[in-house]
Amino acid sequence: MSRPTELWTSWQSLARKVRSNRIWRNPLMRYVALALAAALMMIAALSPLASVMVEGWSQRDLELRARLVFRSIRDQVATGMAADLDPQLVPRFERLAEDERILALGYCTAKGELRYSTRLLPKAVTCRTVQRNKSDTFVTVRDGDARIHVSAFPITTGTTSGHLLVLHDLSYIDVRSGEARLYAMLALIGVATGLGLLATAIVLGLMRTWARSIHNAIVEVQAGSGVSATLRRSDLPISREVHAVLAEVRLERRFTEGIHVEWSPRTLHLLLQEELPGAEVLVVSNREPYIHNHENGAIKLQIPASGLVAALEPVMRACGGVWIAHGSGSADRETVDRNDRLRVPPSSPTYTLRRIWLTEEEQEGYYYGLANEGLWPLCHIAFVRPVFREADWDHYVRINERFADAVVAEATTDAPIVLVQDYHFALLPRMIRKRLPKATVIAFWHIPWPNSETFSICPWREEIIDGLLGSTILGFHTQFHCNNFLEAADRFMESRIDREFASVTLGGHETLVRPYPISIEWPPAALADQAPVTACREAVRERFSLSAETRIAVGIERFDYTKGILDRIRAIDDLLTRDADWRGKLVFIQAAAPTRSKLDAYSTLQAEAMQLAEEVNARHGNDGYKPILLNIRHHDPAEVFELFRAADICIVSSLHDGMNLVAKEFVAARDDEHGILVLSSFAGASRELGEALIVNPYDTRGMANALRTALNMSADEQRDRMRLMRDLVRQRNVYRWAAQMLLDAARLRRRETIAAADRS
Ligand code: F6P
Repeated sequence: MSRPTELWTSWQSLARKVRSNRIWRNPLMRYVALALAAALMMIAALSPLASVMVEGWSQRDLELRARLVFRSIRDQVATGMAADLDPQLVPRFERLAEDERILALGYCTAKGELRYSTRLLPKAVTCRTVQRNKSDTFVTVRDGDARIHVSAFPITTGTTSGHLLVLHDLSYIDVRSGEARLYAMLALIGVATGLGLLATAIVLGLMRTWARSIHNAIVEVQAGSGVSATLRRSDLPISREVHAVLAEVRLERRFTEGIHVEWSPRTLHLLLQEELPGAEVLVVSNREPYIHNHENGAIKLQIPASGLVAALEPVMRACGGVWIAHGSGSADRETVDRNDRLRVPPSSPTYTLRRIWLTEEEQEGYYYGLANEGLWPLCHIAFVRPVFREADWDHYVRINERFADAVVAEATTDAPIVLVQDYHFALLPRMIRKRLPKATVIAFWHIPWPNSETFSICPWREEIIDGLLGSTILGFHTQFHCNNFLEAADRFMESRIDREFASVTLGGHETLVRPYPISIEWPPAALADQAPVTACREAVRERFSLSAETRIAVGIERFDYTKGILDRIRAIDDLLTRDADWRGKLVFIQAAAPTRSKLDAYSTLQAEAMQLAEEVNARHGNDGYKPILLNIRHHDPAEVFELFRAADICIVSSLHDGMNLVAKEFVAARDDEHGILVLSSFAGASRELGEALIVNPYDTRGMANALRTALNMSADEQRDRMRLMRDLVRQRNVYRWAAQMLLDAARLRRRETIAAADRS
C-alpha cells in the first residue's frame, strides 16, 4: 500500500472512530467542540497581529525617542562641527548612551566617514546607508542575532553637513512583542472561554426550555389535549414552532386515527378550531337539556332522563353554539329572554338554549302521535303496533317547518353546521338544505332503523327518506341500522346507492350514511361528587331498609316498553323460584322515570309492571322483604350514580335499543372496578361492551341463569371484565362520537370548496 493510501486509510479509520464515539452524537458536545475549534482558530489568527502591532508601536516610540535625543544635542554637534572637533562631544555622547535603550551614538560626515562614535557602535552599522539622505532616516540593521534600529538625522552648519546616528537595541522589542503575544493570547483565551461559557449557558437554557416545550407538547399529544394558550403565549418562538409542528402531527394522527386520541372537551374544541375554523354549531332536538318547572311555588330546574341529552349536553358545553329545542317545562317561558333564549348550563353558561313553543294540540299530533305512536314503535321491534294518523303527520310537517325557521333565524352565517337529532325531525334536513344550501347538516337517528319490510308500512316512507337525504351526513349507532337505511333508500327512492362509500345520491345531492356509536362524557360529571362505593352502598341500604348481606340488582331508565322491564322482573321471579336460597338475599331496585304516560302503551306497561312486581313480591317476599322495589319517579343524575355504585348487578334488558347509555353510565360509575352488567344483545351497546353478561330478554330462563352467574362471579373476574369495559367507554366517549362526525363533515366541506373552485 502506498504512503498516501496508507495515510488516507488511517485518517478514515480515525474519523470513523471519532464519529462512532457516542459522545459526538450528543449535539451539545458537538456544539462545544465546534466552539473550541473556532476559539483556537481565532487565537491563532489574532496573536501574530498582536506582535506586529507591538513592533510597530515600539518602533514609532524609538523614533520619537531618537528624535528627542537628536534635538537635545543638535546644537552641540553643530558647534562641534563648526569647530571641527569639540572635545566635549564624545564624553557627552557616552553619557547619553548610558540610557538603557540607547545602544550607541555616532556622527557621519557628508563624505560618509564615521567621525565620532561611542564605544559600542557595532561594526555592522556604517555611514553608507544614510550618506545621501537629506531627511531623517530610520533603518533596522542585523548584527549577528541582534537587531539594531538606526535613526539618522541630517545636520548642516554653514558649508559643513553630516548625519547624527542614534542606535537602539531592538531586543527589548522582541521581548515586549513576545509578552504582548502571550497576554493577547491569554486575553483571547479568557474572552473565548467567557463567551463559550455564556453561549453554553444560553444554549443549555434554550435546550431546557425546548425540552420542556417538547415534553409538554408530547404530554398533550398523549393526553389528547390541545396546546395550552398560556404556553403558546409565554414560550420562545422556537418553542411555539415546536408546538405548531407537534400540533400538526397531533392533529393528523389523532384526527385520522381517532381511536388513539383521549377525546375530551379540549380536544373536541381544538378539532373545531383547526378543522372547522369559524364554523357555527347549531343543535336541534325535541328534548331540551334544561327544563324549568313550577314545583311547590318555586321554579325548579330538571335535567331530563334522556340518552340524547346525556350525550349532547357535554358536547355543546365543549363546542358552544345554539341548541334549539321544545320548551316543555311549566316555567320555561318565565326563564327565557324576549327572544326565547337563555344561557346554559345555568351554573356556568357556555352555550345558548333557544326554546320553541308548541301548543297542546301540536304536541299531541307531532310528539305523542306521529313521533311516539308512529315512528317509535315502527323502529323498535317490541311488538307494539304503530299508529299512523293523517292529522298527526300534518302536525309533524308543520313543527319540522317551525324548527327550520328557527335554524334559519339563529344562523348567523350561510354555512352553519346543524346537528339534527332523532326521529322527531326526519323532514328537517331537507327543509334546511332548501333554505341554507351551503349548510352542513348532520342528522343523527338515535333509535334503530327497521328492515325495509317493516319500514314499508309507514304511509310517509318516501317523504321521511327524502327528508333525511337532505343531510350531508346521516348517522346511526350501528352498521346494521345503516344497512337497513341503505336498503330502504334503494327500495323506495329513485336514488343512487354507493355501498362501498356508504352514500346515497338523490337529485344530485349525496348523503353519507355512517355508523357513529354514541357514548357518554368521560369522566361523567355526576361522578365528581359521589361518595366512595361503600358509602353509596350503605346509603342505599338504609334508604330501602336492606340488611348488609343483601345483594342489590338495579335497573334505571325511562318507563318505556322497549326497555324490557317486565322481562327482567320475570327473570328475577324465575331465579327466586328455582333457587330459593336467594330469597331474602337479593333485591331488584327498578328506578323508572315516567315518560309519555298519556299514551296507552306506556300507561299499560306501568300498570303491568306494578302488577307483576306485586305478584313476585307476594310469591317470594314476606313482611320485611320485597324482592322487587319499583321506584316510579324522576331521579336526578346524582341519585342515579349513587344507585349504580351501590349495585352488585345492573340489568339492561332492552327488547330493542339504538345504543342504551345506561349500560355505559353504569360502567363509568364503577371506578372500584366491581359490579356486573347484564346486557341485552338487542341494545347497540352490546356490540361494544362484550365483557358484560349478554342476554336475550325474551329468554326468561337464560336471563335468570345469567343473574345467577353474576351473583356467583368472583371479584377478580368482575374486575377483569369491568376494566376492559371502562377502557372502552373512556376511549370511545361522547367527544369522540361528536368528533368523528365533525371530522367527516370537515372533509366534505373541504371537498366541496375544491369542487366549487373547479366549477368557477
Ligand atoms: O334515545 C331515544 C330518545 O327518544 C331520545 O331521542 C329522547 O331524548 C329520549 O329517548 C327520551 O325520550 P323523550 O324525549 O320522549 O322523553
